[in-house]
Amino acid sequence: MTHSEIDAQAGPVQVRGTVLTVRRVDAYYAMTLVAPAIAARFKPGQFVTLAVGGPDTSMLLSRAFSIHDVRPDHGGTVEFVFASRGRGTRWLAERRARDVLDVTGPLGKAFPLPRDPVNCLLIGGGYGSAPLFSLAGKLKERRCEVDFLLGAGSGDRVFGALTARRVGRTAMITTEDGSLGSRGLVTDLLDQAIHDGRTDVIYACGPMPMLRQITVLARRYDIPVQAAVEEAMACGIGVCMTCVLPVIGSDGITRMSRACVDGPVFRGESVRWDDVGTIPFDAFGAPGWEPRSRRAAELRNGHGRPGDSPAGSAGHAGSSGGAVSGGGPIGGGSGLGAGGRGGRGGRASGGTAGGGSAGGGSAGGAAGRGGNGR
Ligand SMILES: Cc1cc2nc3c(=O)[nH]c(=O)nc-3n(C[C@H](O)[C@H](O)[C@H](O)COP(=O)(O)OP(=O)(O)OC[C@H]3O[C@@H](n4cnc5c(N)ncnc54)[C@H](O)[C@@H]3O)c2cc1C
Ligand code: FES
Repeated sequence: MTHSEIDAQAGPVQVRGTVLTVRRVDAYYAMTLVAPAIAARFKPGQFVTLAVGGPDTSMLLSRAFSIHDVRPDHGGTVEFVFASRGRGTRWLAERRARDVLDVTGPLGKAFPLPRDPVNCLLIGGGYGSAPLFSLAGKLKERRCEVDFLLGAGSGDRVFGALTARRVGRTAMITTEDGSLGSRGLVTDLLDQAIHDGRTDVIYACGPMPMLRQITVLARRYDIPVQAAVEEAMACGIGVCMTCVLPVIGSDGITRMSRACVDGPVFRGESVRWDDVGTIPFDAFGAPGWEPRSRRAAELRNGHGRPGDSPAGSAGHAGSSGGAVSGGGPIGGGSGLGAGGRGGRGGRASGGTAGGGSAGGGSAGGAAGRGGNGR
């Protein structure tokens, strides 16, 4: 094995990347950085974090961006696509060629690839489609069929519609204002896309309500969903717990998983979408948490604590009752649901409470239909 092959298998690196280009792409910006060590390690679905604001900035947290593409030019370049929305991204949009940025990556777990050639539906909301094109390349190398379903609030916010039409077997586009493709949400077209493409697996990246709704719909067809989530992050490397969300493991136990190192790609059905932004009472390590076996024995023996639900009751009283958490091994119907789970909004890390993560709003109307927009 050569040194570069060994390097390529190693974890992320923090490097100084030189800006090659920053260009406008409709409502977004695309930045290309020369960062060979990151390009060599990249797998589709991974992301980078960038320090923003220069050496004397008060913007202490790096900003996370999905990697759109890597290329061999200049030894290895990394491209990402971003919306200018706050101070950090505005600063990034003002960078010019030859500026040098502090960039770390590639971070997080990549999209898992199927072993056999299967029909894949790639769904992107807004700039969430950016990581799907490198994924499409890998899937096609494995002789998978790739169909795209892209959506956004308006046409200028659908990233990569032309590329999707060129690269995909099919490409459906939908916008909430009807300015490109059909009017509506990606989830409005999901049934049709699944039928037309005889979909075996869905890969999705976009706003949390969209991911939630895709997971709910795909469940009807028993189609697995690989969802790349966008939880607010601080460190990006697994130490601060800012980015945690409740994920059900194969042992049926919910753990607060870190989106930055355990994700950002999760099996859709493993995420308790309706509980994102909270620490569910039955998550491993939550105050009062007990192994399920002991808890079940207590309930059988009639030693449940006041407020415990009887076996077979709805569980998660106070949750918004979505099909995902309800259908999970720990969710409704398991008989282990205790009365209430303490409401939304608080996270262990403190800094994120009330931070408006998409999941926190999922009990409202957006979750019902899973908006396209960003
Ligand atoms: C894995 C991942 C991939 C992403 N990919 C893209 C992408 O491809 N394109 C794109 O445009 N955007 C992407 N984002 C979102 C992007 O990181 C934000 O748009 C960006 O951080 C905004 O920075 P800002 O300074 O402009 O905004 P501001 O709102 O001024 O600042 C955002 C900063 O505050 C932090 N923050 C905000 N809310 C909270 C909270 N509740 N708890 C803790 N920290 C918080 C954020 O982590 C970030 O560091 C991604 C985010 C993640 C986590
Ligand atoms: S962002 Fe710090 S643990 Fe994930």
